[in-house]
This record gives sequence, C-alpha cells and structure tokens, in this order.
Amino acid sequence: MSSSDVVIEAFTEMAPQYEEVVDQELRRFWGFSYREFVDWLIETIPVRDDDLVLDVATGTARIPLALAARTEVESRTVGLDITSAMLEYGRRDVDAKGLTPRIKLVCASAMAMPFVGGVFGTVICGLGTHHMDVPQMLSEMSRVLKAGGELVLADVAAFPYWRLPGIKIIIRIVALLYFLLGRNVARAWAEADAVSHIYTAGEWRTILSESGFAQIKITRLPARCWIPNPLVMRAVK
Ligand SMILES: C[S@@+](CC[C@H](N)C(=O)[O-])C[C@H]1O[C@@H](n2cnc3c(N)ncnc32)[C@H](O)[C@@H]1O
Repeated sequence: MSSSDVVIEAFTEMAPQYEEVVDQELRRFWGFSYREFVDWLIETIPVRDDDLVLDVATGTARIPLALAARTEVESRTVGLDITSAMLEYGRRDVDAKGLTPRIKLVCASAMAMPFVGGVFGTVICGLGTHHMDVPQMLSEMSRVLKAGGELVLADVAAFPYWRLPGIKIIIRIVALLYFLLGRNVARAWAEADAVSHIYTAGEWRTILSESGFAQIKITRLPARCWIPNPLVMRAVK
C-alpha cells in the first residue's frame, strides 16, 4: 500500500468525525480549539479583491468556508484534497451555505495538481504539510502561484533534538502507539509516516528558500511546551 493510500484510508475513516477529533487533539496538544486555529490562520491571510485562493489539503473545507465568511470581497477559493470522503463533508456545507459559486472543491493530489501555472494569488495549507513530500509540494505550490503570490502554511514543527540518531524512530513508534489508541489503524500509520515530513523552523527556512520562495517569515504559535509548537510559514513567490 502506498503512503497516499494509507492517508486516504485514514482520512476516509476519520471524515465523519474529523472536526471533533481534530478539535480534541489541538486542545490536548496545543491548548487551543480547532475553531481558534482556523480563525487565527485566516486572519493572517491577505485576500485581495480579485484573488483566487488555493487551499491545499483542504479536508472538510473549514478554511475556505471561514475565508468566505470573513471576506466582504467576492474572493473565490479552490480547496484541493486527495480524500474524496473529506471533500464530501465540505461540499455539503458549501452547498448548504449557498457558497458554491465562491468555493470549488477538487479531489486530487497536491503532488501533481490539475491546474495550469500562475493562476493563484494565495496558496494556503493548514495541518496538511506533514502528510506530504514537502519539496515536491512546494514545487507544485510555486508552479500554480502567480509571481508575487503569497504562500501561507501552518503545521506541527519538529524539535531540533529529533535529528539526534535514533530519536526519529522513537518518535515514530510513539506516534504509532498513540494513534493506535484511537483505533484508526490507517491513521496511526499515516501519522507515523508523517514524522519524516515534520521540520524544524530552520529546516523550513532552508527548504522554502531552495524552492525559490522569498520574504520568508516563520512564526511559532504558543502551545504546551512538551509538544512541538505549530509553525506558520509565510513566503512570497
Ligand atoms: C489534518 S487534515 C487537514 C485538513 C484541513 N486543512 C484542516 O485544516 O482541517 C490533512 C488533510 O490532508 C490531506 N492530504 C494528505 N496528503 C495529501 C496530498 N498528497 N494531496 C492532497 N491532500 C492530501 C488529507 O486527505 C487530509 O484531508
């Protein structure tokens, strides 16, 4: 089974309870709610009048829905995700709120996005980067962004000591065992795999710069000290 299949199986199983589960996890690990996280993230996103926004790994479309509620301008957002079951839940809310003209949901992988280059003014990704090959993801994000377009990513970060020999294996085992307690076996494997895609702030700066991004700003959200704080990375193409 490929790592994408594991992710799809994990989030297909999780989709009906995704928002409750993620809310509990963020409260436990970071000390704030999922709603607070989304509100905080979209406040930092500069949406201009004619902007087309791409939300990568959109899940149940909470970020596009919150953006549409915040922006008075007629901005439009495309939400892309590899798990159709997650998008189905998002689509129900988009339809129920009459937002179909402003939010389009697309099922595809962020590793090969079905968009022509240079169309989006802003690309966002919340809580999704740790499931992906980050250099490949950034290369695709850069391709679809307009010149001067903004990138905003928010996700869990690694501690520098995770790079000590053997520690990564221990963290993977801990992640596997922790998520097995939630009885979603595919999720446990997906989160254990994800440990390889979690970077320190310094590593993020290097990868973003090597991927051609400029004006890189990395901020750390406050969280409980024993869990790596979430990072927010902003950069310009
Ligand atoms: C933790 S959820 C985050 C959802 C949403 N961004 C949020 O803030 O609630 C991670 C999402 O990443 C998606 N995902 C993982 N790998 C992906 C890929 N290669 N391409 C697109 N989506 C992917 C999963 O299907 C899942 O919906």
